[in-house]
Amino acid sequence: METTAEPQALAAEVERLHAALRECGWSREECALHAPLTLEIRRLARARNAIILAHSYMTPDIQAGIADYRGDSLGLSEKARDTDAEVIVFCGVRFMAETAKILAPHKLVLHPAPEAGCSLADSITAAQVRELRARYPRAAIVCYVNTSAEVKAECDVCVTSANALAVIQALPERQIVFLPDRYMAENLRACTDKEIIGWDGVCIVHEQFTPERARAWRAAHPRAHMLVHLECSAATVGLADMAGGTGDMIRYIKAHPEVEQFMLVTECGLSDRMRMEFPDRTFIGTCALCPHMKRVELRRVLQCLQQPLPEQVVELDERVRVRALRSLERMFELTPRPPAPATPR
Ligand code: 13P
Ligand code: SF4
Repeated sequence: METTAEPQALAAEVERLHAALRECGWSREECALHAPLTLEIRRLARARNAIILAHSYMTPDIQAGIADYRGDSLGLSEKARDTDAEVIVFCGVRFMAETAKILAPHKLVLHPAPEAGCSLADSITAAQVRELRARYPRAAIVCYVNTSAEVKAECDVCVTSANALAVIQALPERQIVFLPDRYMAENLRACTDKEIIGWDGVCIVHEQFTPERARAWRAAHPRAHMLVHLECSAATVGLADMAGGTGDMIRYIKAHPEVEQFMLVTECGLSDRMRMEFPDRTFIGTCALCPHMKRVELRRVLQCLQQPLPEQVVELDERVRVRALRSLERMFELTPRPPAPATPR
């Protein structure tokens, strides 16, 4: 990229990037290739009063290079709701950028990769939720945050991996329709006396982590604590030292300074983030990439800040937004502070 940045500013940016990214194996030369982009993105973000929110599955150049805040689905939605910035640049998948818009309707929400879907969010439609409501009239309809705004609008309450169990336990209903993650429904069923009716969605990344593979990882790294995402099957979750969302994993790592090695059974972006934040520990990742998350790239973030394409500006039907907001507000009301791990072990 052509740059007009001062050589001194550029050199300082290379060093800033390298200090963080060397933990993920990036050379100074690789950092030098990215520095003009990160410098310009940060300059433009400041000039436009924009906040850059990034999910923990983003690549290290996005997480360390440009993000103002990195986090899990719950943390990112709270940041979007509470920020004073006029513009939100959302580095994540579509349902996350939509959630930001539901919570911050008067802000300009930019999504650099509008085609970045999610196998869970794509597995159910609003019409199918209406059918479930007709079939189970006494049930509370609970949606995982990995759903479209239209689906959230049909549900009673939304949850994330960080608060699913606590929210379900706080609901008065005994019968719960939990959608769309089949595996997360299985995992919740194991932790509650309530009746959990599931749906047939799966995460294409976490379904790859079979119990056979988890046993092989355990055997190869006997000293590592194994942290497993709740989007994995119950058989895999059963082998974990802790099961929860990505935020729960970070809280677990912080709370266990005596543990030197962790096996993170989730998308590998989190392992890179942990290597940068806890350079004295060892993180064994799974090498599994979410193809949707990885569609967000620095050059697209820059283009989006310079001149967004119409599809990069998140817009929602106002009636859908207001109804989806109810599901999210109920979630915030029922979420304990700080969120309790979904499956304490
Ligand atoms: P978290 O909220 O745990 O970060 O999960 C989001 C997600 O998409 C996991 O695949
Ligand atoms: Fe969706 Fe799975 Fe990708 Fe998360 S990792 S965004 S659940 S496809």
